[in-house]
Amino acid sequence: MTWPPGPQSGTVRTIKCSQEYFSTIVSQVTSPLFIPVATTPEFPDGTLRKVMAGDTGILLARVNGQFYATGLLCPHLGADLSEGTLNGTILTCPMHNSQFDLRDGRVVRWTDLTGVVLNYAKRSNPPRPLPCYPVRIDEETVLVQIP
Ligand code: FES
Repeated sequence: MTWPPGPQSGTVRTIKCSQEYFSTIVSQVTSPLFIPVATTPEFPDGTLRKVMAGDTGILLARVNGQFYATGLLCPHLGADLSEGTLNGTILTCPMHNSQFDLRDGRVVRWTDLTGVVLNYAKRSNPPRPLPCYPVRIDEETVLVQIP
């Protein structure tokens, strides 16, 4: 056998498809995979827990039957948000009580500091939203797409 192998009869085919279909196929091939992280029975409503998506720790929560996946660490100073508290979709950080909405990661409150100290904290460490990741349910499996 010679290397590299030459073209072999019948191994290459040309397929005609629409631009839309081609774009769909390309986006499916190039987009990050959904990774299984949990099962629905182990996540009753109100559950907030760290799960692993491959090597990445993420925060998974279930509120009113809806699953939310976000970054695990607080954008303020990196506290573990799985030790925070949940009130509806509002997550409160255990360290300085910043609050984030799990639906879109937006900052509801940046720390519980007040006055001059809060102004300094905002200038030195500006508010940043929590990264959010798409969640898909396949039968009882919860899958999360991380970049
Ligand atoms: S580390 Fe979360 S509010 Fe400071």
